[in-house]
Amino acid sequence: MKLTERDKKVIWHPYTQMKNAEIIGIVKGEGAYLFDESGNKYIDAISSWWVNTLGHSNKYIAEKVSEQMKILEHVIFAGFTHPKAVELAERLLKHLPSDQEKIFYSDNGSTAVEVAIKMAIQYWSNQNIEKKKIIAFRNAYHGDTFGAMSVSGRGVFTDPFKPYLFEVEFIDPPVKGNEETSFNQLKSIVNSGNAAAFIYEPLVQGAAGMIMYETEILEKLVSYCNSNNVITIADEVMTGFYRTGKFFATDYMTEKSDIFCLSKGLTGGNMAFGVTSCNHKIFNAFLSDDKTKTLYHGHSYTANPVACTTALASLDLYEQKECFENVKRIEKKHSEFRDKIKNNPLIKDVRQRGTIIAIELKVEEGTSYLNSLRDKIYSFFIAKKIIMRPLGNIFYVLPPYCISDNDLDYIYKSIEEFLQQLG
Ligand SMILES: Cc1ncc(COP(=O)(O)O)c(C=O)c1O
Repeated sequence: MKLTERDKKVIWHPYTQMKNAEIIGIVKGEGAYLFDESGNKYIDAISSWWVNTLGHSNKYIAEKVSEQMKILEHVIFAGFTHPKAVELAERLLKHLPSDQEKIFYSDNGSTAVEVAIKMAIQYWSNQNIEKKKIIAFRNAYHGDTFGAMSVSGRGVFTDPFKPYLFEVEFIDPPVKGNEETSFNQLKSIVNSGNAAAFIYEPLVQGAAGMIMYETEILEKLVSYCNSNNVITIADEVMTGFYRTGKFFATDYMTEKSDIFCLSKGLTGGNMAFGVTSCNHKIFNAFLSDDKTKTLYHGHSYTANPVACTTALASLDLYEQKECFENVKRIEKKHSEFRDKIKNNPLIKDVRQRGTIIAIELKVEEGTSYLNSLRDKIYSFFIAKKIIMRPLGNIFYVLPPYCISDNDLDYIYKSIEEFLQQLG
């Protein structure tokens, strides 16, 4: 029996309407390619849900993981530590802003966000200060656990759970032309005196549709929070590890945030892992002889040594000149392609930041994740052996950094063909 037939009997896939799901069975990965059970080779143009920065089945990472598995596979992280967790924290802190002080490990992007929210809420409650409101962008996406859903925009992903989500103060994202509105909304919530924290996806809002905004306005929003004692949380889960052209998207800014969330590229897409880092101010509010001030959060696999090793091996590769050169190469090619197609009458907007290029098609029925163009786009590119995952009428190329110029050119050419047959 084919893998996909066996799958159909026993598997429930994420973000998938199982009634008519068409699943492809992948049996091998290599660099920017994935191979299915019939021997078809696909270009992974979306880095497998934005995680695979360094290419599939990376031999260097595999070696390091294999060595670690024979030394120490896991140890409880409450009351114990191990070399890989400490080394990784030391090295991550070198990449994060200089005032970041402590690393808290968890399992994925959503848990990294949960931990950040809990740190922010308990920061105030530990000091008996009444500050409750969390500020977020209206169409944000921070994950699928309940806290992460609460700080995410309300919509098709969250609708069934609406009554169970805590209240959040949403402001408009500060896209071009909307900067002042966004700032004024934030200012008025902050001035109410009850704002506990502001969480944001820096410069690019991924799941919202690769919505992009400028550094200057983000700097202004974060700065206003910082100077008014509102905790700032940078969710770098998607943007981290060179995705936007710098190591972190917040590296474009000078204003610092209190808390950072990392995942996805943290392990180069090789293992589920999450990090929440914080500065001295946050950490200090949890130090006490009173045990109720403790951050009572942890997962069985917190700081798993194999996951830490995977992240360390990924850092080895990120820190090589070749990685940065690849990022700049993709960035340049993307921006040339953007200029080439930006006047196409079918395109509402084409935007680019670092290794991400997103194309938003004009539609009559309104921009939405459920837009019917989605399936058309997906099927067209699958037939071309390119893996895309459109967000409604918006599709994007967000490749592993090892992708070749030839493969990028093939993707661009296929996009032009798609536009041609659409028009
Ligand atoms: C900005 C951001 N935060 C958090 C998450 C959640 O990460 P995960 O899917 O690993 O739970 C995502 C996932 O796409 C994301 O883009």
